[in-house]
Amino acid sequence: MVLIIGATSFLGPPVISGLIRAGYRIRCMLRTGSNREKLVRSAGGSICDGAGGDISFCSGNLLSPDSMISLLRDASAVVYMVDMAKNGLLENFLRAVSRTDLKRVVFISSTTVLTPLKSTIKESKIKSEELVKKTDLDYTILRPSMIYGSGDDPNFSRMIQFIKKRGFFITFGNGKNLIQPVHIGDVAGAVTGVLENIKTFKKTYNLAGLEPITYNEMLDIMQKKTGINFRVIRIPAGPGRFLVSVYSRFTRHPSLTADQVDRMGIDKAYDWSKAKDDFGFSPVSFEEGLEKLIHMINANESPAGKQ
Ligand SMILES: NC(=O)c1ccc[n+]([C@@H]2O[C@H](COP(=O)([O-])OP(=O)(O)OC[C@H]3O[C@@H](n4cnc5c(N)ncnc54)[C@H](OP(=O)(O)O)[C@@H]3O)[C@@H](O)[C@H]2O)c1
Repeated sequence: MVLIIGATSFLGPPVISGLIRAGYRIRCMLRTGSNREKLVRSAGGSICDGAGGDISFCSGNLLSPDSMISLLRDASAVVYMVDMAKNGLLENFLRAVSRTDLKRVVFISSTTVLTPLKSTIKESKIKSEELVKKTDLDYTILRPSMIYGSGDDPNFSRMIQFIKKRGFFITFGNGKNLIQPVHIGDVAGAVTGVLENIKTFKKTYNLAGLEPITYNEMLDIMQKKTGINFRVIRIPAGPGRFLVSVYSRFTRHPSLTADQVDRMGIDKAYDWSKAKDDFGFSPVSFEEGLEKLIHMINANESPAGKQ
């Protein structure tokens, strides 16, 4: 049985569906308040439909190592999809694991650890990866770049909703920086691909889209694939940073921060050849991934999809 921690994360449904399709028995560890309905709904019902007895749910909380012990003892492997740098949760998990015979864990980290910019998020993610590497676990660490492709992804899905509604999009900087977002289906496929693959034990892999594209190319593809001729409002990086820092200072829950504006300007291109060599990682291009996303959004918005 494979134990899923972070089943309700936005990666959860496709990862679980992929594992079930590959024949694994799945148990999802959920907190008391976890939204199980949302989990099933966001997988389009496929998590339960046809899964028969291949999925079960149980309670546990990373805040309490004791609540996980019996779940970990029953598991042959764990997929850990909670932010690894989240205040002490990883430490609790590793403490609980050390009281069991469990050896195999797949962790989801992030390419944030590779950014050239200094940030507390980057530092804490690096520390978390190091913590895992110090254990005697047969770990695999997967580092996806920006993930997109589910109906509620906070990246391109949200961008499509915005341009549909407003007819414009605001960008910061000259748009010549590189990005390499990865489709959610490719990340889910990677989890299934590494789970029992001994070659991937005690290794770390970058997961990104087929090839890097510039931010401007992304905007062109977005216009072509959505069929919406939206206006692009370009704000130079310096003034943009200033405007966003004023906005975020006077807004209770800002949707953008000045640090994010800085991060938008840097190149985010990643080498995933190690993942290709060891487990055949073969991601789709942004064009292909976006097409899939638009298809999914349109299907959800159709009268049949809304039912
Ligand atoms: N989003 C991206 O573009 C992106 C890119 C690269 C990597 N990643 C990585 O992908 C993973 C998933 O990302 P995410 O943003 O969807 O997830 P997230 O917000 O980091 O985690 C949410 C999940 O963690 C669970 N959780 C939180 N506290 C918990 C606790 N005390 N005990 C047990 N479970 C707990 C939540 O369960 P509840 O339902 O109970 O709240 C939920 O399932 C993360 O490791 C993230 O770093 C994301």
